[in-house]
Amino acid sequence: MPDRSGSACLRRVHIAALATYVPPRVLTNADLEKMVDTNDEWIVQRTGIRERHIVERGVATSDLAKEAALAAICQAGLTPDDIDLIIVGTTTPDTIFPSTACRVQHKIAASRAWGFDLGAACSGFTYSLTAAAQMVATGAHRHALVIGADVMSSIIDYQDRATCVLFGDGAGAVIVSPMNAPVPDGELGIIDFAHEIDGSGGPALCMPAGGSLRPASRETVDERLHFVKQDGQAVFKFAVRKTEEICRRLLERHGLTPADVDLFVSHQANRRIIESAASRLELPADRVVINIDRYGNTTGATIPLALNDARAAGRLNAGDLVLMASVGAGFTVGAVLVRWSI
Ligand code: UT7
Repeated sequence: MPDRSGSACLRRVHIAALATYVPPRVLTNADLEKMVDTNDEWIVQRTGIRERHIVERGVATSDLAKEAALAAICQAGLTPDDIDLIIVGTTTPDTIFPSTACRVQHKIAASRAWGFDLGAACSGFTYSLTAAAQMVATGAHRHALVIGADVMSSIIDYQDRATCVLFGDGAGAVIVSPMNAPVPDGELGIIDFAHEIDGSGGPALCMPAGGSLRPASRETVDERLHFVKQDGQAVFKFAVRKTEEICRRLLERHGLTPADVDLFVSHQANRRIIESAASRLELPADRVVINIDRYGNTTGATIPLALNDARAAGRLNAGDLVLMASVGAGFTVGAVLVRWSI
């Protein structure tokens, strides 16, 4: 990532493989109509979601992550032993400890890797990608496995219609590797990133109990505090404003404008958020990926799922300028600019 550092000794890195996994069980809007006072029309109009994938009981984040990880490693032409570093962006680790990265490392038998979980909620993938890219760019590591994975159904209150319609489960994995030299086009690969946090937004989207502040107790369970709580409108407004802001800042740093972007791949929290942000950026619909209708908000997994769907549809090709953006609980804000290379 030479653009960011100004240092000539950093090497250019790229996403060398991309794979995703969602559990087979589908939860439709019609299913939710039987569980809470909601209806398909409201959900589709207000969110764009039609269905989401949900795990069976006993299936954890590391199980979804493993499937995506092994597929990505294979696609890159590597074996698990080639992986130096595993970063798992997740809000729903299998357990508070050990980390999901440790569980994934064991499940895929990545014998040489170290790794850790990264907590940035819906920005888990963009933050993890940036962290891994830095590690590979410095030469500290050769191949990093970056995973965005969540089992949101494990922390969703299926009695709360304001949140239960929004989320789904899934995983996405990429391999971050150095560009092979000589690089035919010096512009390919991960170009730059921009990230922010704003802790004042904490109460707007959180899980109130289960951590050191309010450990699990009979009261926290009775008060349903181990579930996602959200002030939807506050998050909505912040997400639209910040998505535009961070994207413009990142592009301007490189003398680019939204008109230069071939594909805008935003976190998928609400169709209206993506469309409003895209409209502010004056990005036409054919440059915007929206697949929230089939997955809902899978938190750490939305961006790789959207990238993979775009690739399968022939909308993502080598040489394309791809702008990823995310806003999540915290608040966390992120954008990563990539000249797609595979
Ligand atoms: O990944 C980052 C995390 N999350 C987000 O980015 C989400 C951001 N926020 C949103 O996407 C939207 O705010 C929501 C989809 C959560 C809600 O949409 P909204 O247009 O902001 O609706 P609202 O909260 O203002 O609620 C409007 C009405 C209310 O009824 P009254 O008070 O007007 O009678 C709600 O009770 O819609 C009602 N409502 C529902 N009705 C049917 C809320 N949830 C539902 C539902 N079905 N599932």
